Amino acid sequence: MKKEILNPEIQKYINANLNADLHSLLLKKSLFPEVSMHEIVQQIKGKQVAQKKFPFLLQDGIIFPPQLSLEQSSSEKTAVYKSEILKGKKFVDLTSGFGIDAFYLSKNFDEITLVEQNTDLLEIVEHNWNILGKKAKFINQKLENFLSENKDKFDVIYLDPARRDQNKNKVFLLEDLSPNILEIQEQLLSISKEVIIKLSPLIDLKYLISVLKNVSKIEIIAVRNDVKEIVVSLTKNYSGEINCNCINLESEEKAFSFAINEEKNAEAEYSEPERFIYIPNNAILKAGIFNLISKKFEIKKLHPNTHLYTSEIKIDYFPGRTLEMEVIDSKQIKKKEQFNLISKNYPLKPEEIKKKYQVKDGGEHYLIFTQSKKGKIILKSV
Ligand SMILES: C[S@@+](CC[C@H](N)C(=O)[O-])C[C@H]1O[C@@H](n2cnc3c(N)ncnc32)[C@H](O)[C@@H]1O
Repeated sequence: MKKEILNPEIQKYINANLNADLHSLLLKKSLFPEVSMHEIVQQIKGKQVAQKKFPFLLQDGIIFPPQLSLEQSSSEKTAVYKSEILKGKKFVDLTSGFGIDAFYLSKNFDEITLVEQNTDLLEIVEHNWNILGKKAKFINQKLENFLSENKDKFDVIYLDPARRDQNKNKVFLLEDLSPNILEIQEQLLSISKEVIIKLSPLIDLKYLISVLKNVSKIEIIAVRNDVKEIVVSLTKNYSGEINCNCINLESEEKAFSFAINEEKNAEAEYSEPERFIYIPNNAILKAGIFNLISKKFEIKKLHPNTHLYTSEIKIDYFPGRTLEMEVIDSKQIKKKEQFNLISKNYPLKPEEIKKKYQVKDGGEHYLIFTQSKKGKIILKSV
C-alpha cells in the first residue's frame, strides 16, 4: 500500500478525473513522481465502483485496492441486510477481502477479527478502518493456518470464499472455492455457534443442502430482482427444518419465508389463464418453490413447466409482478407495436418473437408467450 496516493495534490487530481476515460489516462505519464498512472487509475476506478457499490467509503483518506478485490466485494446494500439479525460478542471474517461484509456484519459485536491472505489488501483495510474509526484484529494469514493455531471460540464465523480458480474462471462447486468449505465445516462449527457462508447465486440449493452439515437457514438475496447472493447459515448441532428467506431488496415486495420441506409436501393447482397473471421474482424462482407458491397464495399454475400463476381476484403482496392480462390470437399483434416481451416455456426466444411478429421492445404493455396445459398461448396486458 502506497500512502503517497493520499498526498492532497494527487487526491485533487484523482477527484478531478473521476469521469475521465481511464484507458486514455493510462497512456499518459503520471504528473507525480511518487506514484504511477496505474496507481492513480486504480484509485479513480475504486471511487467509481464505490459510488454504486459502497458509497460509505467515499470520504477523504480511503484507499482502494486493485479491480479484482473491488469486484469480489459485497455491496453495501446486501451487507447491511445481512447484518440486521447478527449479534454477539466475538465475530471473525475468515476471508475479509476488502472488508465490506465484515464492516457491516460485525457492527453488533464487541471483538472483531479479520483474516486475509493478501498482505497488501489487508493493509489497505486496516488503514481504511482506522480512518472510519472501526477497531479490529487484522490477521495476515491463510485461514487454514489461523484455524490450526487459534484457541478462541466465536459467536459468528463469516466466510465469503473466493470464487475464481487459478485461471480466473468463475467456479460454483464448493470444492472449487477457496477455501474449500467441505473440508473445514466441522472444524468451523467446533469453534463457533454459527457459521455464515456467502455463495454465488448460481449454486444449486439441493446440492448445497446435500453436502453441508447443520444447515439452519438459506437466504436468497436479490437487489431489484437480480439475485446477488446465496447466504447459508450452519448452526452448531442443528438438525431441524431448514428455513429459507427470499428477499428482493430495493423493491416494494415483502420477503417470502418458508421451510425447505414445505415444497416437497405442496401440490400446485392448475388452470387456464384467468384475469390476473403473476410472475414470481427471481429470488422465488431461484428457490424453486413452484408448488408452494400456488398453495400459499392460492393462485393456480398455468402448466407444470410454466412458472406463471393466475387468479380471477387480485391477491395482494405477491413477491413478484402482477399483471392484468387477456389471452389473444397472434393475428391481434400489430406490426411495429411496442411491447415488453416475455417468453416462458415457449419454443421461441424474445428475439425470435420480435422478428416473427415485427414488434419492438418497450412501451407500457406486456406480451407473454407461454404454454398452459392446453398448449401454446399469448397473453397481452390490458
Ligand atoms: C470474495 S473475497 C471477500 C470479499 C469480502 N466479503 C468483502 O465484502 O469485501 C474473498 C477473499 O478471501 C481471501 N481468501 C481466499 N482463500 C483464503 C484462504 N485460504 N485464507 C485466507 N484468505 C483467503 C481472498 O484473498 C479474497 O480476498
